Amino acid sequence: MVNITINNKKMSVEEGLTILEAAKKHNILIPNFCYMEGVHELGACRICVVEVEGAKTLMASCVTTLKEGMVVHTNSARARKARKVLYELMLSDHPKECLGCARNQQCELQKLGEMIQIKDFRFEGDKSKHFIDDTSPSIVRDTAKCILCRRCVTVCNEIQGVGVLNPQKRGFETEIGPGDLPLDSASCAFCGQCTTVCPVAALNEKDSTKAVWDALLDPSKVVLVQTAPAIRAALGEEFGYEPGTLVTGKMASALKEIGFDYVFDTNFTADLTIMEEGSEFLERVKSFFYKKNLLLPEFLKKVKIHYEGKHPTLPMITSCSPGWIKYVEHYYPDLLVHLSTCKSPHMMLGALCKSYFAERQGIDPKDMFVVSIMPCTAKKFEITRPEMINDELPNVDAVLTTRELARLIKDAGVDFKNLADGQFDNPLGLSSGAADIFGTTGGVMEAAIRTVYEIITGREIPFDNLHVTPIVGLETVKTADLLIEDAKKEWDFLNGVTVKVAVTSGLKGAAKLLEEIKQGKSEYHFIEVMGCPGGCISGGGQPRPVDNEIRQKRVAAIYQEDEGKTLRKSHENPDVAKLYEEFLEKPLGHKSHEYLHTYYTKRKKY
Ligand code: SF4
Ligand code: SF4
Ligand code: SF4
Ligand code: FES
Repeated sequence: MVNITINNKKMSVEEGLTILEAAKKHNILIPNFCYMEGVHELGACRICVVEVEGAKTLMASCVTTLKEGMVVHTNSARARKARKVLYELMLSDHPKECLGCARNQQCELQKLGEMIQIKDFRFEGDKSKHFIDDTSPSIVRDTAKCILCRRCVTVCNEIQGVGVLNPQKRGFETEIGPGDLPLDSASCAFCGQCTTVCPVAALNEKDSTKAVWDALLDPSKVVLVQTAPAIRAALGEEFGYEPGTLVTGKMASALKEIGFDYVFDTNFTADLTIMEEGSEFLERVKSFFYKKNLLLPEFLKKVKIHYEGKHPTLPMITSCSPGWIKYVEHYYPDLLVHLSTCKSPHMMLGALCKSYFAERQGIDPKDMFVVSIMPCTAKKFEITRPEMINDELPNVDAVLTTRELARLIKDAGVDFKNLADGQFDNPLGLSSGAADIFGTTGGVMEAAIRTVYEIITGREIPFDNLHVTPIVGLETVKTADLLIEDAKKEWDFLNGVTVKVAVTSGLKGAAKLLEEIKQGKSEYHFIEVMGCPGGCISGGGQPRPVDNEIRQKRVAAIYQEDEGKTLRKSHENPDVAKLYEEFLEKPLGHKSHEYLHTYYTKRKKY
C-alpha cells in the first residue's frame, strides 16, 4: 500500500495504481477519453491532466503511477485551465448540434461540457474535410464528431484482432478510419464493438427506427417483433436500472404498448437451433467416427460447401453470430466448411413467421413486417444477405439494437419503469432455460451439450445444476471434455470417446482456434464462437458503457433467467415439438433445409 493525498484527502491505496484508478476508487471524478482500463492506456488525449506537487508539468493521471507521499490536485487552477483549453480545441471543428445528435445525453464530450461550462469558444477548426460514411448496413461513421481518442482503434485491433480502423495521416490532418475505403468495402466484421467504446457519436449503429415507425403506422402491415436472449439482461440500463436487472416482462409489455401486433421471442428459435445444430453435429460425429460419409441426410449432401472435403468436417463451429460469420468469410474462407449451416435464431424465426405462422393465421406474408431486436449491429448486415430470403421475401425486414429499442420506447412515450410485466405471444414465444443462456459466451455450447449428451446416453449431463462449469465465465478461450460411457445402442460406437469442445468470444480468440484448425492441430469436435467479448450480453448494439463488471452482472442475470425455469432443455420445449409435428416434420428434414439452413460466401480481405 502507498499513502497519498488527493484533493486534500489522505488515503492508502494499493501499490501500482495510477492516479486515475485511485481517484475512481475514491469516487473522485477525473475526465478521461483515451483511457480504457487494462487495454488502452496511451496517455494521448491529456484531458485527464492533474497537478502533482513537486512536478514541473501537469501529469496525465491515467498513466502516472502513484508513489508514496504523492500529493495530487485534480482541480487546481492549472489543471482546470489546461482541461478547458483542450476541450475548446476538441470542439473547434466539432459540430455543435447536440439536440439532434444520436448521442444526445449519452455523450462523454457533452458530459465534460457540463463540467467545464464554457460559453464562448475561441478556436475555429477546419471542418471542410468532414464526411459521413453510411455505406455499411450496420455502422455509420461521422468524422466530424471524432475526437481522435483512438478507443475504436484499440478495440478493433487489440480486442477483435481485425484491424480495420487505424489512424490515417498526421498532425492536424489525422483521421481515424478504414484507409481510403468506405466501411462497407473494408473487411469489417460489422461487430460494432467500436461503437460501444466511442465516447461520442462518431461511430454508431445505422438507425432503423424510422423504418420500424413507418411499418407500425401503416395500417396494411402486420408488424411482428422478436427479442434476442441478451436484450432482457441489458435493456433496463437504458432506463436507469442497475446492470444485470432482468426486464423481460416489461420489455414484452413495452413492445405491445408501442403497437407491435405480435411479440415473439427469439429464444424459441434458440431452442429450435439446438434441435437443428445438435442434429447436424450428431450427423457429423456419426460420419466422422463411424461410417465416414455414409450416413448423411440428403440435405447435407446438397450443401455443397460441406463436400469440398471428403466427409463433413469436424470441428463443427456455431453460426449464430453474424459478425463472426463475416469475419471467417473474409479472413479464413477456406475454413467455411466448419461452420454449422444453421441460420442464426432470429433469421429462423423470421422465416417461420412468414411461412408457418402466416399459414396458420391466414395472413399474406407479403403484408408482414418482421422486426428483430438484437444486441448486435452485424445482424443489420445479416438481414441484407441474399440467401436470407424465402418465397421471395426477406426473412427479417428490420433490426433494431437494444439502444435503438430504448429510443423507440422513449419516443413512443411509454413509461417503461411503471409497466406491468407482460408475456410473449404464442406459438413462437415459449422457450427453455437452455435458450436463455444463448445470450452469453458458453451458452450455446452448454445448451447443445444438455441436449446432445442426453440423446447419446439417455442421461442428463453430469454437471451440477445442468451447468457445464468449465465453459462458464468470461475467459477468452474455455474448453471442456465429455467422456461418453454407457451410450445408447445407436451410439455405442462412441463409448470411450472423449468429446472435446471449445468456446471463445471476441474475434481475436476465434482467430487463435481457427489457426489451430488451419494447421491441422485442433483437437476439438465442437467449437462455439461469439463475435463479441463475453458474447451477446456485450454485443455491439448493447447499452454503453460496458466493462467486465457490467458483463459479469449481465451474465448472472442470464443464468438467473435459466435457473428460474422448470423447462431447461431445448428438446423438451413442447412448442418446438409441435412445430415439427405441424410444419417442419423432423430436424434436418426438407423444410428445415429450406427455411432454417443457409450457406456462406468466400470474401476477399482488404
Ligand atoms: S457527439 Fe456529443 S457533443 Fe457532439 S454533437 Fe453529439 S451529443 Fe453533442
Ligand atoms: S465493427 Fe468491428 S471489425 Fe468493424 S471497425 Fe468496428 S470493431 Fe472493427
Ligand atoms: S471514432 Fe470514436 S472511438 Fe474512434 S477515435 Fe474517434 S471518437 Fe474515438
Ligand atoms: S485519458 Fe489520460 S491521456 Fe487520455
